[in-house]
Amino acid sequence: MLRRLHHEQPASFEFTPANLAWAQAQMTKFPVGRQASAVIPLLFRAQEQEGWLSKPAIEYVADMLGMPYMRVLEVATFYFMFQLAPVGSVAHIQICGTTSCMICGSEDLMKVCREKIAAHPFELSSDGKLSWEEVECLGACANAPMAQIGKDYYEDLTEENLGKIIDDLRAGKAPRPGSQVGRFSSEPAGGLTSCIDMPGDKEAANGSVGPALAIGDVAKKIDGTEVPLRAPWQMSGQRGAIGIMGAGQRPMSAVQQAAAAKAAPKAEAPAAAPAPAAAPAEGAKGTKPAMLTEARDGKADDLKMIKGVGPKLEALLHSLGVFHFDQIAGWKADELAWIDDNLEGFKGRASRDNWIEQASKLASGAETEFSARAKKDGIYE
Ligand code: FES
Repeated sequence: MLRRLHHEQPASFEFTPANLAWAQAQMTKFPVGRQASAVIPLLFRAQEQEGWLSKPAIEYVADMLGMPYMRVLEVATFYFMFQLAPVGSVAHIQICGTTSCMICGSEDLMKVCREKIAAHPFELSSDGKLSWEEVECLGACANAPMAQIGKDYYEDLTEENLGKIIDDLRAGKAPRPGSQVGRFSSEPAGGLTSCIDMPGDKEAANGSVGPALAIGDVAKKIDGTEVPLRAPWQMSGQRGAIGIMGAGQRPMSAVQQAAAAKAAPKAEAPAAAPAPAAAPAEGAKGTKPAMLTEARDGKADDLKMIKGVGPKLEALLHSLGVFHFDQIAGWKADELAWIDDNLEGFKGRASRDNWIEQASKLASGAETEFSARAKKDGIYE
């Protein structure tokens, strides 16, 4: 399928403060220098905020992660969970049309979409609330035919129950995700034949359905009013591991608490990794280092040779008065803290990516592993 950016684009994009905090927390999940691994969650959050993924949003995420725009565009255009054009304001319905679902009736489901939403995929309904498309296998073949709507799967669909789901979405209701014929997970349609005495609360163990119903968030766009999610190791005790679900979330179930407890020791490692002496204390502003009003001899160093510095961050450094590797190499810990605190939109980046160490090498005329690769391949990541 040909996937291109929409012909009309907004002028700009930026995360709401809550979503920015969430995105920055996601980046701490990965080792220093590997923040690009957060590209998919950040793109998806941008899409949830705006409803679709615009070019400014792709560039914004690239800048946050210090990635070349092209690399992020490649990700956005590869995965069909990213919508590159405006879709229904309430929901975009993705009907699986691959083998199992096709055999079990996905053609009939698409007929319902044509009748109730719009004649063609990606066409907005007349009220602008809904749109639909056919997608490839979504990995829930045992519960075919199925569709993905927002973050949730709707399974064991029929013309009737899909029609009802569409009507509910249009009416502002939050239809129950999961199997539409009462199956738990993908247990046999004819009832269990083994593990019949499964202990505990099935609903609590039903990973996505329970939380989705608890917050009524099956199709709602993320609008920044949610409780900002921290990575699990940054969350206080009162906020559950399902913090991603936002306001109104219920407390963790026993299953979730056990999972969170198991994950906690591993999860703390990345948070401890960043920047040796450099990490500023909470709220510390540090000391402003000596700045230049312009580059010496009118020729700035290519600061993008420092891993983690993209075009936007380089422009920001110039605006602060930083043009040369030796300036960065000479920063003391309190000066690094000031820089970290003044990198609007990139706070903490300088210490997290060890700029001083990188700049020291570059200032001496040596190459870092990243700068050598960037020069060879012409990329900055
Ligand atoms: S064939 Fe539809 S989910 Fe796999």
